This record gives sequence, structure tokens and C-alpha cells, in this order.
Amino acid sequence: MPVSRKTSRKAKQLQKLRQESISFFKEIYKDEGKVLVFGEGNPDAPLVLVGEAPGHQEVVQQRPFVGQAGENLNKFLGILGIKREDIYITNAVKFRPTKVDTTTGRVSNRPPNREEIELCRGLLYNELSIIRPVLVVSLGNIPLKVLTDDNKIAIGQVHGTPIEIAIGEEGLKMTLFPLYHPASIIYRPQLKEIYLEDVKRLKRYLQDIGVL
Ligand code: URA
Repeated sequence: MPVSRKTSRKAKQLQKLRQESISFFKEIYKDEGKVLVFGEGNPDAPLVLVGEAPGHQEVVQQRPFVGQAGENLNKFLGILGIKREDIYITNAVKFRPTKVDTTTGRVSNRPPNREEIELCRGLLYNELSIIRPVLVVSLGNIPLKVLTDDNKIAIGQVHGTPIEIAIGEEGLKMTLFPLYHPASIIYRPQLKEIYLEDVKRLKRYLQDIGVL
């Protein structure tokens, strides 16, 4: 795909946002040395995927959705017939939320807490304001709540149905397509059929709006 002036402008804006975010969070997390995992992909993409938060592999590679999560994502993109490099992929929270088992010392993932979500909310809104995609797909409850700015909304009620959202102070309008998180079907196998049906609906929706 040729690099248009518009694309390179967005890429530069994202690069600037990344640098500013690294400095901002370095100060906040100076004692914990947390690593920021910024979004990646095509800055001019019509489609942005928003996950929950990075895990261990994402921190090691400093990239969203790699390792097991990346494999799940690739299967999902395979159903849609979309290449990873053609979209933009990011997370609602840009740091790995961890907990430590005090007896074994083992570090594991935990869901992001309210403070972490709020700290990263503006950064996600800024990424989307630069990219201005045709469609945002949220994976799981956390990005759904952040993008709708509604803490009571639940994925079980709205999965597979497009929602009009207005993000940030500007109230920038975009369409959100909420999906269950691909990893949730590992823990809740009863969701698999619903999830696959939603992905097929997403495919039809993308075809209808001319993205596929
Ligand atoms: N890895 C990510 O980057 N995000 C998720 O939501 C899960 C795993």
C-alpha cells in the first residue's frame, strides 16, 4: 500500500503520542518500572481492535496481542479474512496488570483496576482521534466500558450489535462493534458458538459498510 501524506501524518502523530505517553507513565510508575505496550498497525486503518491489557509476552515483545493471545487473534482475523498489518490493534490499558502469589512469589495477570483504566482512558481516546477509523471492535468488557464511557454496560447484553459512541471531550463519533474477548471462550466454552456467530455478523457488517 503506498504511503499517502495522510498516512504518514497519522503515523507521526501516533509516534509523538507514544513518546509523550512513555514520558508521562515513566513518571507515574517510576518505582515499578512498568513497560508501556502501545498500539501497532496501520495508522490509516478503517478498523481498530481494542483489547483489555497486555500480558507477559506482550511486555516482553512490547507489542499487543502476541503469544497465545496473538494466536487467538489470528484465528479471529482468519475468519474475517483480514491481515493483521491492515488494521490497528491496541488495548484499553497499556500496562500488564499483575498480582503476586505471596507464598510462591509467582507473578500472574489480573483484570485492570479502576485507577489503571482511568489512567489509560485518555491515551486510547487520543489514539482513536488520530486514526478516526470507520469501525472500532472491542474485545471483552473493559474496552466496551471505556469506549461507551458506561460502567454499567455489559458485553452479555450488547455483543454482536453495533453501537454509536462519542469519545473524548470532543465527542468524536464512531461506531463500536462489541465482541467477547477471544480468550473468554477458553474459560467459558459455552460462549464459543455465540462468539463465532458474532464474528460472522461482524464480517457481514464490514461487507455492508464497504470495509471488506
Ligand atoms: N493481550 C493483549 O494485548 N490484550 C489482551 O486483551 C489480551 C492479551
